[in-house]
Amino acid sequence: MSIAGKVVAITGASSGIGRATAILLAEAGATVVLGARREDLLADAARDIAAAGGKVTYKVTDVCVRSDLEALVARAVEYAGRLDVIVNNAGISPLSRFDALRVEDWDAMIDVNLRGTLYGIAAALPVFQRQRSGHVINVVSTAGIKIVPTMGVYAATKNAVRTISEALRQEAGAHLRVTEVSPGMIATNLTDSFTDPVARDAIAARVAAVAIPAAAIARGIAYAIDQPDDVDVGSIVIRPTAQD
Ligand SMILES: NC(=O)c1ccc[n+]([C@@H]2O[C@H](COP(=O)([O-])OP(=O)(O)OC[C@H]3O[C@@H](n4cnc5c(N)ncnc54)[C@H](OP(=O)(O)O)[C@@H]3O)[C@@H](O)[C@H]2O)c1
Repeated sequence: MSIAGKVVAITGASSGIGRATAILLAEAGATVVLGARREDLLADAARDIAAAGGKVTYKVTDVCVRSDLEALVARAVEYAGRLDVIVNNAGISPLSRFDALRVEDWDAMIDVNLRGTLYGIAAALPVFQRQRSGHVINVVSTAGIKIVPTMGVYAATKNAVRTISEALRQEAGAHLRVTEVSPGMIATNLTDSFTDPVARDAIAARVAAVAIPAAAIARGIAYAIDQPDDVDVGSIVIRPTAQD
């Protein structure tokens, strides 16, 4: 089985990379199971996908709540009988300098980007073990590759997920594929999660100048899913050619 026929749960599917990935995978014949907090946007995305002939369902999901991820995975199994892929994509990036002491933002990034990914893994693994097949795809960031000021905590959460991805891959054996995808600057609503006006102004302008569409990341995720079962794409970095 390549993409067609696979059942893919995607967190953060109400916007940006998650939404673009859901649309592309549904076009390629996957059944997509959308999770995020904003129900109106999930319903919009599901309506668009269904109108184009795609198979889709959604469940309101806060990745900070472990039982929400369990419910998202349960929705996939109820709706489609199995789960083949979980894309842990939900993320926030309220960037700031350390001396701004925006400690609540640090906590929020740890909760959403790191703990949320772990909860996604915890929800999907029992299903993958039962099926003796599965694929975990974690969306990380080039912020963890080239570390720059204001991105310290964000990059730390993403690099923690990178570490988890490699450890999971080693533990997983022959039946579980694990992929990390590192986007560079992508045109999405991520800068809406910036709370520090200084960082927002500086970074939003840079992102706007070079960003590429979310579909570029969706194509990378689709590439990893599309490989034969014995081919595990470990790491994909996709950034604008113009990104420094
Ligand atoms: N855009 C970039 O330049 C870039 C670069 C590198 C990495 N990334 C990563 O790509 C991923 C997607 O971001 P994006 O760029 O597509 O931004 P986006 O348009 O802001 O989308 C973020 C998604 O995450 C969801 N989300 C946030 N908090 C959540 C929570 N507690 N529970 C469930 N869902 C939550 C949002 O949905 P709700 O608000 O409806 O819950 C939204 O669907 C993130 O992990 C981000 O770190 C983005």
